[in-house]
Amino acid sequence: MSATQLLSATQNLSAVPRAAADGPLAPSRWTAADIPDQAGRTIIVTGANSGLGFQTALELARHGAHVVMTVRDEDKGRAAKARIEAEHPRGSLECGGSTSPILTTCTALPRRSSKTS
Ligand SMILES: NC(=O)c1ccc[n+]([C@@H]2O[C@H](COP(=O)([O-])OP(=O)(O)OC[C@H]3O[C@@H](n4cnc5c(N)ncnc54)[C@H](OP(=O)(O)O)[C@@H]3O)[C@@H](O)[C@H]2O)c1
Repeated sequence: MSATQLLSATQNLSAVPRAAADGPLAPSRWTAADIPDQAGRTIIVTGANSGLGFQTALELARHGAHVVMTVRDEDKGRAAKARIEAEHPRGSLECGGSTSPILTTCTALPRRSSKTS
């Protein structure tokens, strides 16, 4: 099942009548529209060029986050970033592989903190 189909199925479940939706196995009524404002946050999404990673990046950008899309194939990553920007021109995105400066910084942090402790 693609991520789009998964989201669609989740949204269909949210239309289940209330009586059937109560109880421990009740489907969630949560949708991506429930994501709170993410302005001021920088969020790294791995595998962001397709599937769940792509949908996650798209929705976080839609809700104001600065999204760092990490991918193993930078051509695919740039194409995915362009798709999100076409849909959300005000989205804040950057794309990079494992050598992207922000990831290099994140990877270095635990090493740096373990040296100081
Ligand atoms: N989609 C669903 O309905 C669903 C449901 C439950 C669980 N899951 C699980 O959630 C995960 C993601 O699913 P998805 O549908 O989003 O998959 P997907 O569309 O295949 O996306 C996978 C992402 O991970 C990257 N990737 C794959 N193998 C990698 C590797 N060895 N090293 C680095 N990056 C790698 C892919 O990069 P490339 O494009 O370069 O290959 C792509 O960006 C999978 O483990 C899947 O089993 C999915």
